[in-house]
Amino acid sequence: MASSLESELSVWEAMSTARAIRRFNGERVDDATLHRCLEAATWAPSGGNWQSWRFVVLRSPEVRAAVAKAAAISLSVIEPLYSMTRPSPDDDSRAARSHRATYELHDRAGDLTSVLFTTRNYDSASELLLGGSVYPALQNFLLAARAQGLGACPTSWASYGESLIREAVGVPADWLLAGHVVVGWPRGHHGPLRRRPVEQVTSIDHWDTAWERWTS
Ligand SMILES: Cc1cc2nc3c(=O)[nH]c(=O)nc-3n(C[C@H](O)[C@H](O)[C@H](O)COP(=O)(O)O)c2cc1C
Repeated sequence: MASSLESELSVWEAMSTARAIRRFNGERVDDATLHRCLEAATWAPSGGNWQSWRFVVLRSPEVRAAVAKAAAISLSVIEPLYSMTRPSPDDDSRAARSHRATYELHDRAGDLTSVLFTTRNYDSASELLLGGSVYPALQNFLLAARAQGLGACPTSWASYGESLIREAVGVPADWLLAGHVVVGWPRGHHGPLRRRPVEQVTSIDHWDTAWERWTS
């Protein structure tokens, strides 16, 4: 469960340690904790403040069965993409540990709790722009999960297994499945993150003017 220390994490600490958690201890996430994550999601900005989102908590055995099938489809897509195979038990390399956790997440998808992030589809905007009005909510959810000591992992399951999840949940045709996040009490630790530094990913004014050159 969340410790009082974790509930007092600074936003900086939460952001810099909210890495994907793929292993969970099986303890149910209580409604109050989950509700705080969802409330944080509702605090996110959206175009025109339309808040055209709906979050669906997926935890019944019937819906989880569909999620598990979607996870299996996703796994078959990402295995060749990431050159991933099931590691042998004696392999303790970083890649093996990471792959093992990824397999565990996908294999146990039927037992976990997750949240589907959907957004209304409007003809007036591109899907990317519509996504811009729901992904801040998803990120707020992730940070609120981290702040409470929960582990979470965004997945591609609602994309690769869209028809399965859409049908199981009954999502209307004019709503887009924007994202899907598994959430639970972690087995293992949060953070640190491995990310490229600001200087490598930022330009000033012109695409070709890297931050480093601009500041020197
Ligand atoms: C849109 C999106 C889809 C993802 N899909 C999956 C997935 O299907 N399976 C999985 O194990 N991790 C998935 N992840 C988690 C990423 O692999 C992870 O966030 C990334 O490798 C960074 O690792 P870190 O969070 O441990 O720093 C996804 C993340 C995002 C943002």
